[in-house]
Amino acid sequence: MNQRIHRRDLLRAGAAAGLAAGLVPLALARPRKPSLRLGIIGVGNRGTHLLRLALNMDVEIPALCDIREDHLQRAMEIVKKARGSAAEGYARGPHDYRRLLEREDLDAVICATDMQEHAAICIAAMRTDKDVLSEVAAAMTLKECWGLVHAQEETGRIYMLAENCCYWPHLLMVRKMVEEGLFGDITYAQCGYVHDCRALAFDQEGKLTWRGRMARDFAGNLYPTHDLGPVAKCLGIHRGDRLVSLTAMQSRSDSIENYVRQHFAKDHPARQVRFQLADSTNVLIRTAKGVLIDQRFDMYSARPAEGPYHAIQGVRGSYDSRLKSIWIEGRSAANAWDPQDKFAKQFEHPLWTNLAEKAKGSGHGGADFFVIYDFLETVRNGGPAPVDVYDAVAWSSIIPLSGKSIAEGNTAQAIPDFTGGKWKQPKS
Ligand SMILES: NC(=O)c1ccc[n+]([C@@H]2O[C@H](COP(=O)([O-])OP(=O)(O)OC[C@H]3O[C@@H](n4cnc5c(N)ncnc54)[C@H](O)[C@@H]3O)[C@@H](O)[C@H]2O)c1
Repeated sequence: MNQRIHRRDLLRAGAAAGLAAGLVPLALARPRKPSLRLGIIGVGNRGTHLLRLALNMDVEIPALCDIREDHLQRAMEIVKKARGSAAEGYARGPHDYRRLLEREDLDAVICATDMQEHAAICIAAMRTDKDVLSEVAAAMTLKECWGLVHAQEETGRIYMLAENCCYWPHLLMVRKMVEEGLFGDITYAQCGYVHDCRALAFDQEGKLTWRGRMARDFAGNLYPTHDLGPVAKCLGIHRGDRLVSLTAMQSRSDSIENYVRQHFAKDHPARQVRFQLADSTNVLIRTAKGVLIDQRFDMYSARPAEGPYHAIQGVRGSYDSRLKSIWIEGRSAANAWDPQDKFAKQFEHPLWTNLAEKAKGSGHGGADFFVIYDFLETVRNGGPAPVDVYDAVAWSSIIPLSGKSIAEGNTAQAIPDFTGGKWKQPKS
């Protein structure tokens, strides 16, 4: 057992009655740690990118894990080059991350494996006294969502979702404008992840990757957090509002199988695969305050790369990321959008004011830097996580619930209150 004093220990010993009662800020629960020791589980494309970002900060990386020996070796070389000393590698199969988690010298782990593995690994991490940063999405099933909530609540460990789009400067700016009331009360939001990822469904031999297996095995919105996350933050979800119900509808599935016919010979095994995932899946979500969120997911239609988009409508103004524009009643000219950049300086988030130079070139418009930076700060300070377990599971629950809605003929599905009522208390 790790010798550090954890919040769990404090809670168990009854020494933190004030903390348990919510009187003592979580950030005071344990002393700030300067240098941290991180393990990374899953060092494919994303995990390697996050590893490089972490190595630019004040951390040691003594342990790395991947089921692919080549990926592990690549990551180990990066650590050796950056720090001069070797990390220990874990590559004895899909459950070898458990050996890494048994180490007592790690403060935290980053999980960047295939999406289907995230929940099990993050639950195990918290239950072995590690803080954890999970790549998106957090979970694939409601059972996994609850497993994450219970693990976090019972251990008191920090769980953060690596939702980088929440850090985009224009979205942080819009969030600030919403919070300062410029748009008035919000009634409607539109968001989507529309990004041609057909090539990522297959490896070089034409075998299904984890993304391809997901599209074969599931219908629904399978990647909901890049678009819903920033919108939920703007709407104050879990700060006085929550996602209450959804209904989902899908188009037919055509594009991916068309892609297969174009790229693989008639006798190639890829031609036998049948995909459940539709070309377009649309989800309508309603919040407790009566906001309607209109969400589209499309990973396989032929089109230029776009990525996530976001729009919000308030009673006094509107924002649309596709137009890169904002309109505020009484401030903007009648019937003419203002460019969003017009508001950039006045409503810039302090993270960007202070750290934009450091974030430059870190990936996804600089947002990737802030994910790692904020996670390390959160671990050092003892919380609270800026994208916490409740955010993570509420946003990720769109995956199973949209699938269920489609399977049941587009029926409405209740979204559980994962917070157990805590969403009603506005947080600062
Ligand atoms: N936030 C973002 O912008 C962003 C961008 C890309 C990917 N992602 C997320 O990052 C994750 C990884 O995506 P990727 O593109 O790097 O995929 P990838 O296939 O390149 O990497 C996944 C890695 O996990 C390893 N792995 C799988 N199961 C494992 C296990 N049980 N134990 C240890 N290692 C295991 C694989 O061998 C592989 O090296 C996904 O969840 C994806 O959704 C997020």
